[in-house]
Amino acid sequence: MPTLATQVDGLSLPNPFIIGSGPPGTNLNVITKAFKEGWGAVIAKTVSLDSSKVVNVTPRYAKLLAGSGEVIGWENIELISDRPFKIWEEEFKKCKDQFPAGVLIASVMEEYRQDAWIEIIQRCEAAGVDGFELNFSCPHGLPERKMGAAMGQDPEILQEVCGWVKSAATKPFWAKMTPNITHIEDPSRAALRGGATGLSALNTIRSVMGVNLDTLRPEPTVEGYTTPGGYSGKAVKPIALRMVMEIATLIRTEFPGRSLSGLGGIESGHDAAEFILLGSDTVQVCTGVMKHGYECVKPMCDELLAFMARHKFETLADFKGKSLDYFTTHADLVKRQGDRKAAQKAATTGKTLKSDAEWKGDEFVKQSDALSRS
Ligand SMILES: Cc1cc2nc3c(=O)[nH]c(=O)nc-3n(C[C@H](O)[C@H](O)[C@H](O)COP(=O)(O)O)c2cc1C
Repeated sequence: MPTLATQVDGLSLPNPFIIGSGPPGTNLNVITKAFKEGWGAVIAKTVSLDSSKVVNVTPRYAKLLAGSGEVIGWENIELISDRPFKIWEEEFKKCKDQFPAGVLIASVMEEYRQDAWIEIIQRCEAAGVDGFELNFSCPHGLPERKMGAAMGQDPEILQEVCGWVKSAATKPFWAKMTPNITHIEDPSRAALRGGATGLSALNTIRSVMGVNLDTLRPEPTVEGYTTPGGYSGKAVKPIALRMVMEIATLIRTEFPGRSLSGLGGIESGHDAAEFILLGSDTVQVCTGVMKHGYECVKPMCDELLAFMARHKFETLADFKGKSLDYFTTHADLVKRQGDRKAAQKAATTGKTLKSDAEWKGDEFVKQSDALSRS
């Protein structure tokens, strides 16, 4: 019988499905629901020390629908948690009292000040969390305060901040990367050099959902205006897989042993299998939970287990990163295709020559050559 249970950075998860930071982990009530439904771990909504600076607007979501009506893309201009940090500290404690074995990860974001990062890490640890995700990747609102993606896009700052966290944290911490950058390897390498236990990829992709052709206003429209937001859901999965592949290759070659949590558009066990095949240790789901509810973890687990049984994989480690071996350069693809076609042609030519009557003057050399191969 295959098992989904896994150990990552010293944390024991019953399965690799983690609630990604966002609305599905926005308070104790919903976090409790996630543990009850059997999620492998929960990453809470991102917290900061001073929530009074966080002011949300409505509407803050806009959706892209397929012809069938299914939501395939989701833009948000939501900020990090607007709830006071003191309340979060109490809720982290209560959550660990209720679910001592549940893996609770605090997502944290702070300004570019060492004392603030150290304080938030120490207070979350005192409240009992099992690990951290550092949000270096929120693409809207917070970058105006030089937070979130503004830090994640600057490898030097990223390395420095990870170093601060490393000096204060006794628990594992993952740096959550922004996709809004040309080469994801650069900030990834910086975070790992700074001491991050692992990486999470990816956060939302900076986007504009569309323009209303009646009002001529871009959406989501707030008081007639908008600001670019973050794109998530099914539509971002191919981009997420590419970045996960690049980060996993980096980890494999330069930082063996560091972990990777993959996310972006995961809604099924098969999606999860793809992220694991490209090097993820765990997978996170945010928009999928907003679409399908917390219960979706059960069919996801079943589908992943069925995939493992089909391939006779006993553990997640049996197939983690297995498909990374099939990436190469375009030039190598051309060579492989040329070699295969040449071999096929030779084989075909050889096979068709069944009697001496088939020898042809204009193919004579090729036919002779083919007959000399085994
Ligand atoms: C409404 C909404 C709010 C989000 N808030 C946060 C957040 O507070 N912190 C964070 O790190 N990521 C946040 N995210 C990003 C998600 O955690 C995730 O990185 C992204 O949406 C891609 O995964 P998905 O397609 O499974 O949603 C948010 C996403 C959405 C849709």
